[in-house]
Amino acid sequence: MADSKNILSEVKQGILYLTINRESKLNALNFATLTELREIFDEVSDNREIKAVIITGSGDKAFIAGADISEIAELNELNARKFAENGQEIFSMIENCHKPVIAVVNGFALGGGCELAMACHMRIAVAQAKFGQPEVNLGIIPGYGGTQRLTYLIGRGKANELMMTGDMIGADEARSLGLVNHVLPTKEDAMAKAEEIIRKIMSKAPLAIGMVIDCVNAVFVSDEDGYQTEANSFARCVKSGDYKEGTSAFLEKRKPVFKGE
Ligand code: COA
Repeated sequence: MADSKNILSEVKQGILYLTINRESKLNALNFATLTELREIFDEVSDNREIKAVIITGSGDKAFIAGADISEIAELNELNARKFAENGQEIFSMIENCHKPVIAVVNGFALGGGCELAMACHMRIAVAQAKFGQPEVNLGIIPGYGGTQRLTYLIGRGKANELMMTGDMIGADEARSLGLVNHVLPTKEDAMAKAEEIIRKIMSKAPLAIGMVIDCVNAVFVSDEDGYQTEANSFARCVKSGDYKEGTSAFLEKRKPVFKGE
């Protein structure tokens, strides 16, 4: 994994740990950080050492307090669309990654921070985390997929309320709305929970995990027939060695050893 300036990265036992590292700016996502994120996710798919990814923010205060407002303040009509499309593209890379990506939300997840967390496959939050899409306070709207993903995740009425008021909600409310999978007291606990889930996923057939991700994502693509995607993906799984291993292991009453082939 190449060195990045704004993102710390480390691979330990198959998990790539990414820490957005702009603590003095509450880990706000500037263009340079987004570019690093793109480069990292370009590599994740092909790097066999990496089986899963955890994304968190540095320090105890913020996961990511949004896109960098000093850059937003410089936008014009011409480059604003590109600004949004660039973020959307990178977040789609995360969402479509065939390896599980979990956000450990250790504090404020606002604007682009909430959007990045929503692009991950799951979210584990600390009790003090706060979520929100406060863009209307700046005269804009979410531009990195937030209007879509928030609506899918928590439903239209609540999504409208959060995006129109700009209000923040706490971790427990976020969990009750379905925005967050689990809430833990501290960052260490949240990290341990994310690792526990990832270890479980890593014991399953990797190709099947990738197919689950594709099929779940297909629900949200309006011109894709998700049932067709499911049937095709099911057939692809049956072509794999892992399918033979999984079914044989069950019948032979032993634990399967999956190879991702
Ligand atoms: N972009 C750029 N800088 C940001 C930022 C953002 N999204 N969020 C916080 N910062 C910077 C602040 O400007 C400040 O920098 P400074 O010390 O150089 O002045 C530093 O991070 C600390 O933030 P501060 O506002 O002093 O902390 P706080 O505890 O008083 O408030 C927040 C925390 C999260 C409530 C507040 O920072 C905030 O509202 N941030 C913007 C959230 C937002 O609108 N996000 C959506 C952007 S589209």
